[in-house]
Amino acid sequence: MKNYDVKDLSLAEQGKLRIDWAGREMPVVKVIKQRFAKEKPLEGIRISACLHITTETANLSLALREGGADLVLCASNPLSTQDDAAAALVDYGIPVNAIRGEDNETYYRHILTALEHKPQLTMDDGADLVSTLHKEHTELAADVIGGTEETTTGVIRLRNMARARKLGYPIIAVNDAQTKRFFDNRYGTGQSTIDGITRSTNILWAGRKVVVCGYGWCGKGIAKRAQGMGAQVIVTEVNPISALEAAMDGYQVMPLIEACKVGDIFITATGNKNVLDKAHFVQMKDGAIVANSGHFNVEINIPALESLSKSKRRIRPFVDEYTLNAGKHIYLLGEGRLINLAAAEGHPASVMDMSFANQALCLEWLVKMKGKLKPDVYPVPGDIDREVGRLKLSSMGIAIDSLTEEQRKYLESWESGT
Ligand code: ADE
Repeated sequence: MKNYDVKDLSLAEQGKLRIDWAGREMPVVKVIKQRFAKEKPLEGIRISACLHITTETANLSLALREGGADLVLCASNPLSTQDDAAAALVDYGIPVNAIRGEDNETYYRHILTALEHKPQLTMDDGADLVSTLHKEHTELAADVIGGTEETTTGVIRLRNMARARKLGYPIIAVNDAQTKRFFDNRYGTGQSTIDGITRSTNILWAGRKVVVCGYGWCGKGIAKRAQGMGAQVIVTEVNPISALEAAMDGYQVMPLIEACKVGDIFITATGNKNVLDKAHFVQMKDGAIVANSGHFNVEINIPALESLSKSKRRIRPFVDEYTLNAGKHIYLLGEGRLINLAAAEGHPASVMDMSFANQALCLEWLVKMKGKLKPDVYPVPGDIDREVGRLKLSSMGIAIDSLTEEQRKYLESWESGT
């Protein structure tokens, strides 16, 4: 029997092993890949995809290629690329424009290179590809059948573009599918954020006061998992209904400026900018840890933190110690970039399975709908969402009940109960 250590393999071979490992947890994408191999719904279609380059994205890419797509990839964040997954994809013949830790200029150059592919479909995670296309290469929009958007931040940007009548082709908000946001945003972000913070700091969560800024689906997941690790969770919100929900879910809710006085660990998940700002850093305790789990690195005002500091040093990978003029220390994780992908491996494959199944099926649907949709942001068709749910349940060996004919009719009627 051949015995070898993973470390003896080339980067691409290591990536292939990890892609296979992730693939074991992605049965829904696998079923779609098998059907795509037979039906070739994306035959010859050029796709430019701006996604986090991970082993999960690799499995999606291979499924799309099986469906006949001609795909090129670029990263949707400078710090989320898994270089082994990128190398493996290139080895499989799928071009990838991404290097982990690339600077901003390289990041945008890579997006432009992906656009040179003259896409007929776009896939985006955060809307940088779509916005770059509309800013720098508007002429390309005419040939685009449609696109998909993976994340909350991207959907917000695209809706703003559509409202300003700047969007040149239809886009499906994959993020908003129930089988995406209820699971990926909540359980995926929840687990992987705790994972990223644990890997970078090795802190004990039990007994810590964890402040979660934002109680959307991501914030809900983070709060729940932090509580599960024994932390006392404080939620901060601007939306009264979300704040109420957090309070009734059992968390303390208070203004962020108050939370800053007592918190040990701060995690932003709002999608907004300067959530943790100068006034907040001033209030924080010595040793406070701050991390971001939102899509862009704007939630923590790093220039403000720098302006308050006399020195900064990296004390562990992903941990920068800021010594404030006042003498106390604040620890910023992952340069304020999304900590789950910067310091860990992003959402586990099992949850990306549903998000990426939605992606694949929406691309197929867009091709079927070619020419029938005006430029706008569209929801994932309900049939696709339910099909992903059904396939995932079946892969988990879970059977459910169905309505009797009598019950179905009752629900369609306005019969009373008496
Ligand atoms: N977004 C969050 N986690 C991810 C992952 N593992 N792969 C691709 N995109 C992601």
